[in-house]
Amino acid sequence: MIRELNVKVLCDDLAPFRTLALAQHGVSYHINIRYDDFEKNILFDTGSSYQVIKYNSQLMNIDLNRIDAVVISHGHYDHGGGLRDLLNDINVPVFAHPTIFRENFYLPYLYIGIPRDHIQDLKKKNNFVFTRDPMEIVPGVWTSGEVPRENRFEIVENMFTLEEGKVVRDQMLDDTSLYIDLGESIFLVSGCSHAGIVNIKNHGERILGKRVSHIIGGLHLINAKEDRINFTMENLAGIELYLGHCTGERVVNRFIEKFGDSVKRIYSSFEIRVIP
Ligand SMILES: [Fe+2]
Ligand SMILES: [Fe+2]
Repeated sequence: MIRELNVKVLCDDLAPFRTLALAQHGVSYHINIRYDDFEKNILFDTGSSYQVIKYNSQLMNIDLNRIDAVVISHGHYDHGGGLRDLLNDINVPVFAHPTIFRENFYLPYLYIGIPRDHIQDLKKKNNFVFTRDPMEIVPGVWTSGEVPRENRFEIVENMFTLEEGKVVRDQMLDDTSLYIDLGESIFLVSGCSHAGIVNIKNHGERILGKRVSHIIGGLHLINAKEDRINFTMENLAGIELYLGHCTGERVVNRFIEKFGDSVKRIYSSFEIRVIP
């Protein structure tokens, strides 16, 4: 039974007024979970580079040596870019989908995968636990596994990969989120929500049999069409939202206008405490 949850933003694209923490395009969240007589620490994503999360963790009094597990949400550089150097400092299991090292690019060609030289080094490590299925990594904390795509709005746009040497549209099946069981409800942690945040939410609610009450992450609505934005807003009504990274400022502001104080724009050094 989880007694307390503390989420600290180690990397986001934003570091506003009076914040000494560094910002960089990317995501990294430190998640501390307290139970009756022990605690666990998870690092969800590693930003674009280790320097930022190392610096910010010192500033925020977070001891990276006490991390029990790392989760990589998907194989983009802004989520897995800090992993290689992190693993030179700490030796912990890393949970991820088995395809995070595939080719990843936009067209016109722009490589957005984990840096290739990092991949060479990472493939030699034995830290990885690869799974396509939901998995309970510490008590009450589940990875999503592959998220079923169930609506016509949440489409992956302009992302490509290679299959047998051919360029194909990338469905981002590696996109992995976390579901933290608060007892009555779920705290959902997402990286970029490439699987679609409504799909991700519905999948978690089915797995754990309870509703999502909080979401932190990037919603990847930065270039979304109007119908997708409206669909997302309708489906996230009533949830506490902590939005950052690739959500898009225009979209964050629309959420704030519609839902008021239940929506926050997060930034490097932002902290959330939940006592279920
Ligand atoms: Fe991202
Ligand atoms: Fe991404």
